[in-house]
Amino acid sequence: MRLFLDSANLSQLQPLLRTGVFYGVTTNPLILRESGLSIAELPSFTQAVLQAGARAVFLQAWGRQTEVLYQCGRFLASIDGRVVVKLTATQEGLSAASRLAAEGVHTCITAVYTPFQALLASAVGATFVAPYLGRINDSGRDGYAIIAKMAESLKHTSSRTEILAASIRSTADLVTLAQEGVRCITFSVPIAERLFQEPMTLEAAEAFEQAIQEVSL
Ligand code: G3P
Repeated sequence: MRLFLDSANLSQLQPLLRTGVFYGVTTNPLILRESGLSIAELPSFTQAVLQAGARAVFLQAWGRQTEVLYQCGRFLASIDGRVVVKLTATQEGLSAASRLAAEGVHTCITAVYTPFQALLASAVGATFVAPYLGRINDSGRDGYAIIAKMAESLKHTSSRTEILAASIRSTADLVTLAQEGVRCITFSVPIAERLFQEPMTLEAAEAFEQAIQEVSL
């Protein structure tokens, strides 16, 4: 199981990455804008999260033409070998991903909403495909069933493309996705923090600490 933090807020990412629970960090232009991170800061941000313990950093390429996306992807990949280049599941994004994958760049096809798009990601040799569970559910469809279809299709075609589920709305989503065989999930910092706040666990841990104080007197 690989869990990722969907954020570009370095001060929030660093303590969570240092727990060793999270494999890496995923970003997109909305997340960069939300955190106030500029394109020029991407190299230093990448090195900082790697230094804090990330083993993969997902950076999304921008541009409306294939060539622009491709060149942008090459720039992002040049920042560090542990960068995964995200490209949207548009014709241009898929085409750029195909060229990048052929050069050995790890890519993630993102903004995915339908099972056939996972097949497209596999066809272009993408390392990951990122379906947006929350947004699929928001549209009135069954996001879990759609992602289960993706997982089944990729499995039965012996694809090496891994599902990275995104747009997660609750900690319960993690278990439901894992039950469908999804092994990579990315979610926000607030959801990550909730993972460590199970009240009964905190209560038991405190009771253990109180008890050991009494026996160690
Ligand atoms: O990585 C995609 C993710 O950031 C989208 O999440 O909550 O905006 O649907 P959300």
